[in-house]
Amino acid sequence: MATTDETVRHGALQELAKRHLWLHFTRMGAYADQDVPIIVRGEGCHVWDERGNRYFDGLSALFCVNIGHGRADVAQAGADQARELGFFTNWSYAHPRAIELAARIAALAPGDLNRVFFTSGGGEAVESALKLARQYHKLTGKPNKTKVVAREIAYHGTTLGALSATGIPGLREPFEPLTPGGVHVPNTNTYRLPPGMTEADLAEAIGHRIEFEGPDTVAAVILEPVQNAGGCITPPDGYFQRVREICDEHDVLLISDEVICSWGRLGEWFGAQRYGYQPDIVTTAKGITSAYAPMGAVIASDRLAEPFLEGTATFMHGFTFAGHPMAAAVALANLDVIENEGILDNVRTHEPDLRAMLESLRDIPIVGDVRGAGYFQALELVKDRETKETFDDAESETLLRGFLSGELFRRGLICRADDRGDPVIQVSPPLIAGPAEFAEMESVLRPTLEEASDRMHVRGR
Ligand SMILES: Cc1ncc(COP(=O)(O)O)c(C=O)c1O
Repeated sequence: MATTDETVRHGALQELAKRHLWLHFTRMGAYADQDVPIIVRGEGCHVWDERGNRYFDGLSALFCVNIGHGRADVAQAGADQARELGFFTNWSYAHPRAIELAARIAALAPGDLNRVFFTSGGGEAVESALKLARQYHKLTGKPNKTKVVAREIAYHGTTLGALSATGIPGLREPFEPLTPGGVHVPNTNTYRLPPGMTEADLAEAIGHRIEFEGPDTVAAVILEPVQNAGGCITPPDGYFQRVREICDEHDVLLISDEVICSWGRLGEWFGAQRYGYQPDIVTTAKGITSAYAPMGAVIASDRLAEPFLEGTATFMHGFTFAGHPMAAAVALANLDVIENEGILDNVRTHEPDLRAMLESLRDIPIVGDVRGAGYFQALELVKDRETKETFDDAESETLLRGFLSGELFRRGLICRADDRGDPVIQVSPPLIAGPAEFAEMESVLRPTLEEASDRMHVRGR
């Protein structure tokens, strides 16, 4: 039972949230007659709301909290750093933690990705990578190379440059006209291959697009190792190897957007390592600090950095807080945890258990596909499993926002019910989770999806 004080505090926070806080990507009107979920505490794989309700954080707080919640040692690393040097910028100056972190990232990253440009988050990292690609080509005598090829339904961030790479019409339309130069090709959702296309055609589509645009106008291709939006879309065998060849053929840079897919999410430090390809640039954020502090980074190859290291050349770009000492100290402590506590091994060992749990839900008629890699998996929900018929917009609205999102949360599971592509449920638990935690997820997923099947009149065959 809540005490009177708690009830008053709870009511006051709700009122203040509704009056003053602007939630991101949120229909604020939805909270006119219901509570804003207010999360107050976290420990391991769980978080608690301000009423004391406990939830399994099956989304790692938006694909971020890789080592789990409540690590006092990581928090302490930030506090210690704040006491020693609260802040100094990376504009012209360095400080020890940014240097140490850059060197450590370079040692972990594949190949000659040795130069680290810090940012405050993922969108800034993508924005920076796109600007880096443009300026690199200008410095190396190809000033018309400015376009970026990305994939349909991919999410690369919301700043105007990154948004031109983002391939989700609903996110782009309110802000048109966007920064010019973003062009798109099909993604690798092999459950729904575009008509007439084979898996092998998917990489070729990138080559065709570059040729159509004119190779001397294309700066970069940006791809996630596993595409988040659309529901954990994995690459077919050989996809990235062929994309690498195509990029080399046309002197186009390959940017691996690993804002989600690095720091163990796929069982490797970097997603590119899982699929065996060598990017020119990696963009990262989220798990770099396990979100104990905001941070992102662009990791560039020696070849990319070289023209910027001579004479008066300067990458004309920066953010005051990027490489913040406290965030860098937290990132170093986070990498210690990942290394010392065998986090990558835990993902490799238990990925099959997570997958088996999700596969076991295939007997529920609404579950059409199960896909993903590492601790980054999705269920695609369908109206008819045999025909793969999907839900129309109104049905998807009823299914996801009218039922699933709220019901999963009410039953104690935070995960993502999303329809930026076809309707999916995404799970992305902290990388410390194992079979017991997957069973906890299943205990909510199964009855909720069964009820969703019934409500949407999906019948098994
Ligand atoms: C692949 C990818 N790129 C970029 C971003 C943007 O990152 P942020 O929200 O930190 O700006 C995200 C966010 O989820 C992402 O998943």
